[in-house]
Amino acid sequence: MFFSPLQSIPPDAILGLMTAYQADPSPRKVDLSVGIYREESGETPVMQAVREAEIHIINEQATKAYISPIGIEGFRASVADLVFGDEARALRPRTACLQTVGGCGALRVASSIYRRAVNNGAAYVSAPTWGNHFGLLGGAGLHVNEYPYYDLKRHLLHIDQMLDCLRHAPARSLVVLQVGCHNPTGADPNSTEWDAILDVIEERSLLPLFDLAYQGMGTSLDADAMPVRKAAKRFSELMVAVSTSKNFGLYRERAGALVALAEIPSQVETLESQMKDITRGMYSMAPAHGALIVERILGDAHLRAEWCKELEAMRLRIDRYRQRLKAALQARRPDLDLDWLTRQRGMFSLLGIGRDDVETLRRERHIYMVGDSRINIAGLNDDNLEVVASSVAALLK
Ligand SMILES: Cc1ncc(COP(=O)(O)O)c(C=O)c1O
Repeated sequence: MFFSPLQSIPPDAILGLMTAYQADPSPRKVDLSVGIYREESGETPVMQAVREAEIHIINEQATKAYISPIGIEGFRASVADLVFGDEARALRPRTACLQTVGGCGALRVASSIYRRAVNNGAAYVSAPTWGNHFGLLGGAGLHVNEYPYYDLKRHLLHIDQMLDCLRHAPARSLVVLQVGCHNPTGADPNSTEWDAILDVIEERSLLPLFDLAYQGMGTSLDADAMPVRKAAKRFSELMVAVSTSKNFGLYRERAGALVALAEIPSQVETLESQMKDITRGMYSMAPAHGALIVERILGDAHLRAEWCKELEAMRLRIDRYRQRLKAALQARRPDLDLDWLTRQRGMFSLLGIGRDDVETLRRERHIYMVGDSRINIAGLNDDNLEVVASSVAALLK
C-alpha cells in the first residue's frame, strides 16, 4: 500500500465555502465569500475586450507548439510596462520577467528565487493576509512570519507596530507587501506610510516582494502601482508578483508574471535563467491563452481603451456598493463610525464580527462570508443589499 498513510486534508477555507454555497438549495442565498468580481446579476462576465482579443487569437493562431519557457515576449514586456509606468523604459535593462501560472505562480517562483539567493532567510507577510501566502511561501521551504498590519477594532492600519516589527526583522528578510486593495482588509497604506515602510526596508536591507493582484481595481492603474514605482526609484533589487486574474477577469486562464529588478543589467540573464530552472522543475512553462489575450489588449489602442473603460466600471460598481452598504448599515447603527467602509479600497473588507456570528449568518440567513468576516463587496446587488445590511447591522461592534 502506498497511499494508505495519507491523511485527508480539510478544504481550503474559501474553496470549502464555495462548495457549501453551491450545495445550498435556498433561493435567498448570498455569496460574499470567494474573491471574484461580480456584476449586478451576480455573474462574473467575460470582459468585452477579452472576447474581442480571443476572436483575433483564435482566427490567427497557426500552431499550438510550446511557447518559450520564459513566456510570451509581448506579454512580458507589456506587463512590466503596466507595473512600472513611465519608469518602465529606464528600468528595462534591469528588468527580468517570467510569465507565470497566475499571481500564485509568481509568488511561488519568487519565494524559490529568494530561497536560492539567501541562506536561512526569513519571510514576512501581513497579519492578517490572504491565506494562500502561507501555502505558497511555505511550499518553497520558507518559514513564514507575520508583521502586525490591521487593527480590527478601530478599522485602521497598525502602521507603527508594522514598522517596528520590520525594524527588528533579520537583515535580508523577504517582505511580502500587498499593493492596493489589501486582501482581506481593504486597508492600504497612504503615500506617506509607504515612504515610511520603504525607509525601513532600506534601513534593514530587506527584499520587498510586492503582491500586485488588483491593479486598477482600487483607485486607478497608475495610483495602484504607486508603491512599486516609488520602490523602483529607490532600490536596486525588488520583485513584483503580478496577477491578471482580477483586472482582466482571466481567473481560470492562469496568467501572471514575476517581474524583478536586478542590480545591474548583466544579472538579468542569470535571474531569468534561475526563474526558468525553477518552473522547469515544477510545470515546465505557463499556459499561453490568457497571456496572449493580455498581450493583445495591451498592444492594441482600441482594445486597451475598451479594457480601461470596463475596468473603471468594475471599480465604480465596487465603490458604489461600499457607499450603499455603509448607508444601509449606518441607518440601522447611527451609534457607529462606519467611514472605514468607504475609505477602504477593492473588493474586500473585514466586518469584524465573530466566527460564531459568521456561522449563524450562513446557517440561518444563507449569507456566506469567510470565517474571519471578510466580505466581497462585489457580491452585493440590489436584491441582497438590504437583507445583508439588516442581518449584519446588529452584529457590528
Ligand atoms: C492578494 C492576492 N495575491 C495573489 C492572488 C493570486 O491570484 P491568481 O493566482 O488567481 O492570479 C490573489 C487571488 O485571490 C490575491 O488575493
